[in-house]
Amino acid sequence: MTILEVIRRSTDFLTERGVESPRLQVELLLSHVLKLPRLKLYLQFDRVLTGPELDPLRELVKRRGQREPLQHIIGSAPFLDHELKVTRDVLVPRPETEVLAQLAIGKLKEQKGSAGTSDALRVLDFGTGSGCLAIAVAAGCPEVEVDALDKSPAALAIARENAVLNQVEARITFHEGDGFAALAQASRFDLIVTNPPYIPTAEIATLDPEVRDFDPRLALDGGIDGLDCYRMLAAQAGAWLKPGGWLLTELGDGQGMAVKLLFGAHGWLCEGVEKDLSGRERVLIVRRPLN
Ligand SMILES: C[S@@+](CC[C@H](N)C(=O)[O-])C[C@H]1O[C@@H](n2cnc3c(N)ncnc32)[C@H](O)[C@@H]1O
Repeated sequence: MTILEVIRRSTDFLTERGVESPRLQVELLLSHVLKLPRLKLYLQFDRVLTGPELDPLRELVKRRGQREPLQHIIGSAPFLDHELKVTRDVLVPRPETEVLAQLAIGKLKEQKGSAGTSDALRVLDFGTGSGCLAIAVAAGCPEVEVDALDKSPAALAIARENAVLNQVEARITFHEGDGFAALAQASRFDLIVTNPPYIPTAEIATLDPEVRDFDPRLALDGGIDGLDCYRMLAAQAGAWLKPGGWLLTELGDGQGMAVKLLFGAHGWLCEGVEKDLSGRERVLIVRRPLN
């Protein structure tokens, strides 16, 4: 069978199983198996695949047809300029979260420019999962010290591996524990960045199988209305920030107003809401008052 024939047949197979963007998924699996950049496949459509090339591909396409996420099958996911290991122990990093990472990096560069001090800025990534936000911030702001916490020891093990893979392990301190209790009492940060669990519990059953059956429940479940973690952050995060410090949080679809009100009720100053590439409100930026 040629590359083009394999692409067509596998695309039909994934289409029947309800997989989104089936042709792209097949091309990515094929380029993974053949160790070729995806676009190079287009120059080799007539190449006949050998048995040892076809067998592993069939197995991977079958797994994708069972709705296992592409990133789990390949074992990694891109995040900005980084490649991160992913397993069932961590949320697959999402493109929307790249918006949050870029905003945090921009804010830190602004602060560094205006602070006029040689002290390193300190950042906390609350709920680090794969480590994507901590790693992006550490790599994007070489003078910043990053702390990252998570309740899941298995997620933290992956985050640590990812920090090493991306050569920023010396600049990130990882902490295991439930919420801020994971940190030493004396910790104070210039900026907290977080992508908390925000899916309302009952909605989890309605999500695509790739998310519902493969992302960790702890990474998804935001309680009855999806806002539990925001409530906790609004009440507690201020005590872990320096006066005037920033908190940037990802928002679930349609949660912007509710989360803004929650933070407002605890005296936070709302600095803005940023949209993602699809025009949805995705990041809330709030600030602890100066006094
Ligand atoms: C939505 S995931 C985000 C992961 C990663 N930051 C990202 O953006 O892909 C939320 C993360 O928060 C962690 N988490 C949930 N509740 C927590 C808690 N009470 N204390 C610490 N971590 C928690 C989960 O284990 C999960 O890794």
